[in-house]
Amino acid sequence: MGTGQVVETLLEDGFRLARISCAANLIPSAGQYTLAGAASDAPLPVPLFHTDSAPEGFITASPETESWNPGQRLFLRGPLGRGFNVPLSARKVALIAFDGSPIRLRGLIRPGLNQGAAVVLVGNFSVEQLPDEVEAQPLAALPDILDWADCLAFDVARENLFELRETLGALKQLPALEEAQVLIRTSVPCGGVAECGVCAVSLKFGWKLACKDGPVFEWKEL
Ligand code: FES
Repeated sequence: MGTGQVVETLLEDGFRLARISCAANLIPSAGQYTLAGAASDAPLPVPLFHTDSAPEGFITASPETESWNPGQRLFLRGPLGRGFNVPLSARKVALIAFDGSPIRLRGLIRPGLNQGAAVVLVGNFSVEQLPDEVEAQPLAALPDILDWADCLAFDVARENLFELRETLGALKQLPALEEAQVLIRTSVPCGGVAECGVCAVSLKFGWKLACKDGPVFEWKEL
């Protein structure tokens, strides 16, 4: 638990990003989240995902933060949940926004490039502000991307998980899927404290909570 502050807001590819300053131990890794409320008793804190690193904090984006302005004080709890784990041996990393914005996957771009991997961002979105080394591809390129990559990171809404299973099910023999990880987007109102169950995800064997067992799951579990 701690506090932070919105230092500035930025417009990037149609998204309003917020640069947050906070203690290092409150910064989520890619795929993890930190719950933030604009007041200590905020009824529903919002999850902040790591979009990029920044001095003394991190950059984040979510629809809920649109109303925040520079100077906004935040009450933070986190980092929470399980994030992405890109193997150091990965050389061809595909970040796939299956049904929406790539914003929660962007936190993997710098670590991927830093370890010498080629990075491709896949999805049906318009993106202009990418490092020169990163390629953007539409979702239609997914079969080729799955063939090419040795590490896959997906972002999908919980309600679209069935569709993702259908899409990948036909390709389940691909070796890259052995290492694939999936961030499941769902609301996480209590962050696991109250065991409210709102974030429950149906897996191959039983149920798990996205707020603390995820939000990133191994594809094999799904
Ligand atoms: S958000 Fe309440 S149990 Fe997951």
